[in-house]
Amino acid sequence: MDRLWTNARIATMAGPGLGMIEHGAVAARGGRIAWVGPVGEAPAAAETIDCEGRWITPGLVDCHTHLIHGGDRAHEFELRLQGASYEEIARAGGGIVSTMRATRKAGEAELVASALPRLDALIAEGATTVEVKSGYGLSLDDELKMLRAAQALGRERPVRIATTFLGAHALPPEYADDRAGYIDLICEEMIPALGSLADAVDAFCEGIGFTPDETRRVFETAKAHGLRVKLHAEQLSNQHGAALAASYSALSADHLEYLDEAGIAAMAKSGTVATLLPGAYYFVRETKLPPIQALRDAGVTIALATDCNPGTSPLTSLLLVMNMGATLFRLTVEECLAGVTREAARALGLQTEIGTIEPGKFCDLAIWDIERPAELVYRMGLNPLHARVFKGIWKGV
Ligand code: NIG
Ligand code: FE
Repeated sequence: MDRLWTNARIATMAGPGLGMIEHGAVAARGGRIAWVGPVGEAPAAAETIDCEGRWITPGLVDCHTHLIHGGDRAHEFELRLQGASYEEIARAGGGIVSTMRATRKAGEAELVASALPRLDALIAEGATTVEVKSGYGLSLDDELKMLRAAQALGRERPVRIATTFLGAHALPPEYADDRAGYIDLICEEMIPALGSLADAVDAFCEGIGFTPDETRRVFETAKAHGLRVKLHAEQLSNQHGAALAASYSALSADHLEYLDEAGIAAMAKSGTVATLLPGAYYFVRETKLPPIQALRDAGVTIALATDCNPGTSPLTSLLLVMNMGATLFRLTVEECLAGVTREAARALGLQTEIGTIEPGKFCDLAIWDIERPAELVYRMGLNPLHARVFKGIWKGV
């Protein structure tokens, strides 16, 4: 073995429950977990780290972010404080389109540099995998630029970046009178140009975004190119987007405040993860809760993510996301932890590689200075991360 972390309380998240090993150890070889179990049975290793009774969880996974973007929307925040709604601002030419302008202006290196502080904040709280979407370029070159910048983040820091193409985020102004033309551009030029730049395709199915029919065209093209899909669905209204996404075996449907019974049933059938985004719910002062109990009853798995974006969720803390998941959505501690590890991995289609502490998966770990897992969910603003392990490489913080 290369390295052994011993004398730890391990929440493997491999189930049932937290998948607890009370007096445990975990060993890495070649960047992967080679062994996990009780301390007494641990194999020998070249290097042994005594965790002194600390807790180990899987490295955290943020499965929905818009980390790469130009500028910020602090001014729109002030307008909202004066009473304007998110939809009003968007319809008046602000919102996503104002970030589009700033993103188009920025060069690739500038986009990377401005995203690094946000990425560092996530990493400082134990994130080892972060999904990053495009969707503020809205032209072929600017969308590809965003995805290249996103992938560059994974070379700048010890973190796994999953990229998602979100060309169908908003209608760029130059296509204001030609919606079909923009969908043609997405389907005929953008998606065919993605190559290895995107791991999945997303869309914003909404009154201020794209219709279900437009979304369907994007999904058909994604499918033809062998790309999995996900969807911003039922965030501001019920467009029946989640059911549409499920019919394409979507990895996840995200937001879901306005999700109905038919959407829940469709998601349960297709195994589509419900990614809840309590930061956006909080920041736009939404009052309609996602149908949590109905999702549970139907057996739909629930992930949690930051939705880090300049407009609706300028949030870079998965610890706070867990707190909001519990406080605003009444999720249990176990659901919150699973939501930012095992289920978030599933929402990215990476469940065989990350998300739990099991032999064969990447050795991505978070080591915490806590007495019980509830502390990760209950505190607001204190960071108890002791160390983070990415692909078996250990670094104290
Ligand atoms: O996830 N809903 C669409 N996309 C983002 C908001 C993007 C923005 O306002 O810039 C979201 O909430
Ligand atoms: Fe989003």
